Amino acid sequence: MPEPLVEMHGISKDFPGVHALVDCHFDLYPGEVHALVGENGAGKSTLMKVLSGVYRRDAGTIKVKGLPVNISTTRAAQRLGISMIHQELNLMPHLTVAQNIYIGREPQVVPSVLNEKALNDEAAKLFETLHLRLDPLKRVSSLAVAQHQMIEIAKALSFNSDVLIMDEPTAALTDTEIDELFRITRALRERGVGIVHISHRLQELKQISDRVTVMRDGHYVDTRPTADVSTDQIISMMVGRTIFEAVPEVPEHPSEEVVLEVRNLNRGRVIRDVSFRLRRGEIVGIAGLVGAGRTEVARAVFGADPFDSGEIFVKGTKVAIKSPSDAASHGIGYLSEDRKRYGLALGLDLETNLVLAAMRRFLGPLGVIRGALTRLAADRQVQNLAIKTPSLKQTVRNLSGGTQQKVVVGKWLTADTEILIFDEPTRGIDVGAKSEIYRLLNDLAREGKAIVMISSELPEILRMSHRVIVMCEGRVTGELTAGEATQEKIMTFATQRASAV
Ligand SMILES: Nc1ncnc2c1ncn2[C@@H]1O[C@H](COP(=O)(O)OP(=O)(O)OP(=O)(O)O)[C@@H](O)[C@H]1O
Ligand SMILES: [Mg+2]
Repeated sequence: MPEPLVEMHGISKDFPGVHALVDCHFDLYPGEVHALVGENGAGKSTLMKVLSGVYRRDAGTIKVKGLPVNISTTRAAQRLGISMIHQELNLMPHLTVAQNIYIGREPQVVPSVLNEKALNDEAAKLFETLHLRLDPLKRVSSLAVAQHQMIEIAKALSFNSDVLIMDEPTAALTDTEIDELFRITRALRERGVGIVHISHRLQELKQISDRVTVMRDGHYVDTRPTADVSTDQIISMMVGRTIFEAVPEVPEHPSEEVVLEVRNLNRGRVIRDVSFRLRRGEIVGIAGLVGAGRTEVARAVFGADPFDSGEIFVKGTKVAIKSPSDAASHGIGYLSEDRKRYGLALGLDLETNLVLAAMRRFLGPLGVIRGALTRLAADRQVQNLAIKTPSLKQTVRNLSGGTQQKVVVGKWLTADTEILIFDEPTRGIDVGAKSEIYRLLNDLAREGKAIVMISSELPEILRMSHRVIVMCEGRVTGELTAGEATQEKIMTFATQRASAV
């Protein structure tokens, strides 16, 4: 047995009102992928932030390559060869790929043109050794989330790290992109890098990890060789009980009333002549690969982006939607895939976020917010979605990643809008809460709401939708009823590129 790269022992960490970590253990060997799993708020990110110098531990010991260490800053962690890629990626969108990688430590040559060149050459070299297909000169804002992930990996490795922590790297990736990520992960493992892989996609642990550590409510549960445990065993260790996946269920037939119709929507090359209808009580799944234009369509309908041409009808009446507040006044809500940028007011408390989209309902006669009502409404969603928080007054930024996603969902549930567009609603959400969200969506449909669900997870699309619309390169390439839809058929439409454009 080689010497471990990292040994963490008896680690505890409190935040106000929360025992985030209580006597936790973790170790990592060179050349292994060690998965870290647990429900939302279990303490996974916090434990790894302690290791990477973001937080200081309150108790416990950390050894790196056999030596006891104190890791009080991220710099200190980097010097010890520890890098972490965070759940919420932190790139600067207006800078280039190379600039992002070397930010704050650009080569110190005098003229700035030379600097740029050295930077780009350095980055290109780095990508080559990692076999990454990235262009150092591209601006980050022009790239997809999957590529952001690759940039973060390159950046982490540019510090010559031998410990690489990836906090939910696959949450935002499609299957092909995940394959690519795993290829890189395996290559790193070959080179003796120790990798921590945090994920809610339990199926993938078998594919990629050597060992798995389970956490529950801030406590260490167990560490096992992945080959020796079944996914069901992992789930029961995570939740401390056996949960039964509810039988896939699509609510009964929607009514014939069309509540939303989009006709011939166009926007440059990203949305091309998109038309679809959504009926009361219906869940329409929109499937497609990353970049197919699904989010773009949603954002256009919600008024978050302008479009060049096309018409939108709400309950048969043509409406002009120029901003999200126009959309809201026509009863359209949009749950964004990017919760950090569009979904949440991170600096405000949980209660405010949960009632934000429905504020009008909670105003008293003089425009005063009726606190008792907002508390009640917020509390209902906290119960509904099992949101883990010390109180309704907790700042949303301090909630765990998956818990924040639940808050965005809760916000639109409170809003009580008739048409809801959910963009990747279960991203980063743990198994238990996922079934909960499916149940809630079904309930909403049954109550007569109309729902569009964009998702990259085909099983989710198949399980939830009355109808599936498939997009590729900005066009609608296929439409399938719940009965017709299969993974294969969806994939065929999703890759149906227009011949030679
Ligand atoms: N900066 C902070 N201030 C206060 N509380 C925090 C802070 N960071 C995390 N917490 C709390 O600590 C607990 C553990 O959170 P953590 O982010 O480690 O969970 P996680 O296992 O990564 O969950 P997820 O799967 O949702 O990402 C949660 O209750 C969270 O709200
Ligand atoms: Mg986390």
